[in-house]
Parts: sequence; structure tokens; C-alpha cells
Amino acid sequence: MTARLPETIRWVGGVDGHLELLDQTQLPQREQVLCIDNVGDLIAAIVRLSVRGAPAIGVAAAYGLVLGVRSAPSDREGFLEQLRAVAAALRAARPTAVNLAWALDRCLRACEVTPTAASLLYESASIHADEVAMARAIGMHGAALIPDGATIMTHCNTGRLATAGDGTALAVVFAAWREGRRFDVLAGETRPLLQGARLTALELSREGIPVRVCADGAGPGLIQRGEVDLVLVGADRIAGNGDAANKVGTYSLALACAARGVPFYVVAPTSTLDVGMATGEEIPIEERDALEVTELLGERIAPEGVGARNPAFDVTPHHLITGIVTDAGVLSPPYSGQIAALISR
Ligand code: MRU
Repeated sequence: MTARLPETIRWVGGVDGHLELLDQTQLPQREQVLCIDNVGDLIAAIVRLSVRGAPAIGVAAAYGLVLGVRSAPSDREGFLEQLRAVAAALRAARPTAVNLAWALDRCLRACEVTPTAASLLYESASIHADEVAMARAIGMHGAALIPDGATIMTHCNTGRLATAGDGTALAVVFAAWREGRRFDVLAGETRPLLQGARLTALELSREGIPVRVCADGAGPGLIQRGEVDLVLVGADRIAGNGDAANKVGTYSLALACAARGVPFYVVAPTSTLDVGMATGEEIPIEERDALEVTELLGERIAPEGVGARNPAFDVTPHHLITGIVTDAGVLSPPYSGQIAALISR
């Protein structure tokens, strides 16, 4: 087995410390760790996807608040004013991933009680630890869904690179593998930024788990042909009724699964649930730079002057979802009451 990747996110030192991020834009070619010591650099890293995946963005942003209040006035009101301004700038960096807002709001609440950088660092570290624990619990609850000999399809990257722990959908895969079941994985390449081809293929192959990459357009057809036993995907935000926003290209897999009777599971920690939004129609969908679509690896592929639509996510309606795997167990439809109960716990 090849060596493990460096940690996705690491805070080094005390309140005067810095954040280390494994730069995911460089993978799989280079394992480069970025040292981030100011909030502007962190926001840029989040926007260009050096750190990505909803839970990982939340953890990184929480630590980003520590970086952002270093120059804050020491009086309560001055400190809170700067904290809120930094939180607003971080919140705008990736609008669909609710874990980002969830982590920032948790830190803001902690600072209402104790407005200091030390209390922020404590809260950020406990968010980090909670995400690790949730990923572990997700793996434990979901592993039984994968039968021996299965072919699993997944999309985007939902592993250690996307979270603080083992992942979401990939945490389930890792847990089933550790339990001794053997299977193989089809990873959708995930245009335009290729998180599946670059990151999921890297994480699974490092663990010795058989993985093949397929073009996104091939996914629904492979499901229709009976070549896929189940689909496991993550989510960036799950509305109160179970509608789930995930990387663009997820919805077409769910439609194909429904047409062929293939189980389609969404896997996410409770920090991804958002009862503030009743349905998926309310979920803000991040529109990214058109150049991500019109260029490939920095080379223009569309004719000059042609623009693009680049929504980073789509929403899978709850009626297409066989089950939602969370750290608190596997939810079966109807989801509304169960999601509300999990949040109020
Ligand atoms: O744009 P990304 O790479 O941050 O998108 C990530 C995903 O879509 C994941 O599926 C998602 O964040 C949830 S699982 C960790």
C-alpha cells in the first residue's frame, strides 16, 4: 500500500499559529502543503478549491476566523464587529456548502459568550474533532449497504480530502473495505474540475480499492446497462424535505437509478442538514467562472468568444433518494420529520 496523503487541514500552534492545507488543485501530481496565515489567502484558497468539500470548507473557515481576528480591537464590541465582517467574507466564498455557514455560526455563538481568539480556536478545534467523529459514525452506519462483489458508482470527491475525517460517501466505502468486503468503484470524472478523476481515484487507489474513472456522460448509461449495483454520493446541503444539492452531474445519476431500480444513497453529516430551507428550490447554487468550462488545464478548448454556464451543483429531489446516510443512522423516506428531529437533537 502506498503512503497516506498529508492531512487535508491542520492548525499548527496556538492563537498565533497558522493553517496548513493540502493544495487539492495540485493533486495527484504534487503533494504541496500551503501555509496560510491570513484570512484573505484562505478565502482565495477556498474559492480556487485548494480546500474543498463541504465539511472541509467548514473546518477551514472556522480556523480562518482565528486568523481574521488577530488585528481586532480588544474591546468586546470592536472584536465582535471585526469577527462578523470576517465571517461574512468567508461565508460568501462558497454559497452552496451549508457546512461553511454552520461552522461560522457556531463560532459566532461561542464568541457571543467569550469574545476572544482563544475561544475561537477552541471552538474551531472542536468543530474539527466533531467532523472527524461524524465521518467515523457515517462509515459505521453505512458500511452494511455495500454487498460483497458490488460495483459502486460515486461522483465528485467525498473522501478524506473533502472532510476532516474519513469522508462521507467514501467513508462508507472505506468502512466496508475494512470490514473485509470486496467490490470495485466507478468514479465519475466530475467535469469541469475533475475531482473524481484526480482525487477520488487517488484516495481509493492509495487504499488498494479497485477504482476506474468514467466520463460523467457515461454514468447514466452504465446504470441503465445494469453495470452498477448502487450509487453513493455526498451533499453540500440537504433541505428539510430531503432534497439534496451535490456536485453538478449528481441529478442525472439519480434519474438513471430511479429508472433502473438501482439504490441511490446520499451520505452526509448532520452539519449538512439545513431545515432553514424547506425544499431544494431554495438552495443557492454557486455559479463558477466560465473559464473552468471553456478551458481545460489552462488551454482554451471552446472557440474564442463563446461563453459558458457553470453551475457547480445540482439538486436531486428527495423522491429519487433511496436513503440518507448520516452520523446518526440511515434515514429512509419520508425524510422531513426525521431531518427536523436530528437537527433539534
Ligand atoms: O466543489 P467541491 O469540490 O467542493 O464539491 C464537493 C462535492 O460536491 C461533494 O460531494 C460534497 O462537498 C459533499 S461530500 C464531502
